[in-house]
Amino acid sequence: MNRASEVVDFHVADRIAWVSFNRPEKRNAMSPALNRRMMEVLDALEYRDDVGVLVLKGAGESWSAGMDLKEYFRETEAQGLAGVRKSQRESYGWFRRLRWYQKPTIAMVNGWCFGGAFGPLFACDLAIAADEAKFGLSEINWGILPGGGVTKVVVDLLSMRDAMYLALTGDLIDGRTAAAWRLVNESVPLERLEARVTELANLLLAKNPVAIKAAKDAVRRVKEMTYDNAEDYLVRAQEAANSFDPAARKEGIRQFIDEKSYKPGLASYDLSKQKDRAG
Ligand code: ACO
Repeated sequence: MNRASEVVDFHVADRIAWVSFNRPEKRNAMSPALNRRMMEVLDALEYRDDVGVLVLKGAGESWSAGMDLKEYFRETEAQGLAGVRKSQRESYGWFRRLRWYQKPTIAMVNGWCFGGAFGPLFACDLAIAADEAKFGLSEINWGILPGGGVTKVVVDLLSMRDAMYLALTGDLIDGRTAAAWRLVNESVPLERLEARVTELANLLLAKNPVAIKAAKDAVRRVKEMTYDNAEDYLVRAQEAANSFDPAARKEGIRQFIDEKSYKPGLASYDLSKQKDRAG
């Protein structure tokens, strides 16, 4: 399915949902219409059996140029507080939805990534950038602070010095620097970006999906917990995962200890055998 006329484009191939910001003529700036549509698309894809990983990319030369200064800021401000709050709910809403998405998510940052786009960047579990991508907190350049969660994102992901540098200078960093600063996992030349993201997605597709969801939520949740709270949360999260998929870990142990068909230190157990045994 390909509906290029829409502000969000998506298609599913080989269990990967490729979702695109699709306003290339506006450098994929996030308008209220785009934010509403993104929530619908995330909704439609989240529990589809043929989707195991979601990749968020940008059409054209941009990942996303952040919030749309005309449609998201100026036009909603003209509607008064109710308009502003509505458009904030719509954008923060899908960022939050993506942070806690059922399937693992990868940001494939192919180009410009400004300001508000750090929200979905952080919401994705993993991020691979093109060396040529450019990241910046341009808010300061047009007279505001990095809001909408953006300051929180950079403080969570970066050192205080690097976060402060981006927030105060509005300077750009490229994909390689973003990787060195750990804003993204890695960067690769643009021509290899899709292949690398596909490889990473396939690695995730080979894992137990219940364990993946439990693990990705745990990484985000424990960050704000004390050690003891985290320990308790993780015991309960695993027990909850066991209730969703009681066979998983037993099968993982069986294939290693009894069948000797794989080594957990080197790869995943074979999910298809678990399905076969479940009949
Ligand atoms: N909001 C609204 N319109 C935008 C945005 C945006 N964030 N970004 C680009 N556009 C529009 C331009 O106004 C232009 O529209 P037009 O063709 O109707 O004149 C079109 O997209 C193309 O933009 P250009 O500036 O011509 O593209 P160029 O490739 O030369 O530059 C760049 C790209 C650097 C991304 C530039 O467009 C830019 O600086 N955009 C704003 C980035 C930004 O500061 N975003 C806000 C971050 S703060 C926040 O999100 C809260």
